[in-house]
Amino acid sequence: MDIIQAKDYTEMSKLAADLLVKHINNTKSPILGLATGSTPIGLYKELVKRYKQSEISFKHVTTFNLDEYVGISRSNPNSYHYFMNDNLWKHIDIDLANVNIPDGMADNLEKECIEYEERIANQPIDIQILGIGLNGHIGFNEPGTSFDSRTHIVELDESTREANSRFFDSLDEVPKQAITMGIETIMKAKKVILLVSGKAKATTLAKLISNEEVTPDFPASVLRKHKDVTIIADEEAREKIKL
Ligand code: PGA
Repeated sequence: MDIIQAKDYTEMSKLAADLLVKHINNTKSPILGLATGSTPIGLYKELVKRYKQSEISFKHVTTFNLDEYVGISRSNPNSYHYFMNDNLWKHIDIDLANVNIPDGMADNLEKECIEYEERIANQPIDIQILGIGLNGHIGFNEPGTSFDSRTHIVELDESTREANSRFFDSLDEVPKQAITMGIETIMKAKKVILLVSGKAKATTLAKLISNEEVTPDFPASVLRKHKDVTIIADEEAREKIKL
């Protein structure tokens, strides 16, 4: 795993945007894996800025998002569909026919998972953007998730629901389930860019890059087996590691 050392959140976001802009501009049909959460918001702002400066077009880009809550509609501001539209899609020239995000309102959720996985298998992801949860989750793959998991329905950890309750009026409103790409799905991406920012993630990052075992108890540890992972971490997140 390579680590790019960013000074702060703004620089982390710019460095990630540099990598994506370069890839998009040099690739005929780029396929990106995208993430939600607080961490990638700065990256999306930077991509919008570069689009407005005519540095980049998204007309030929396809995207797959990592995950979506079960049981809240696309028009709900807490859905990841809404988040993506609000932070990125509505500001750029992407063809909405080419954006993919699991449908958490599907009548048949199992079928939705199988079909989502098939879509990714048919259009393999070039670069997957990831954040990391305090407990090492990637996507919504909580500790204990099998490394050979594909897109599936998850019961969210209480710690994850609590962490995400900041976006909802109350903890009760946070969905209990989500659909997420599996660990195997994420590992199939040709390249992974993991963004880590802030003091709160310092222990998690230290654990990730330590030589501890690769274990489903700490899902992100699987990334040590991926051949092309770039971590972009800011100073605060690197507080507990020596490079
Ligand atoms: P965050 O979430 O970007 O809001 O910290 C990351 C995650 O839980 O995967």
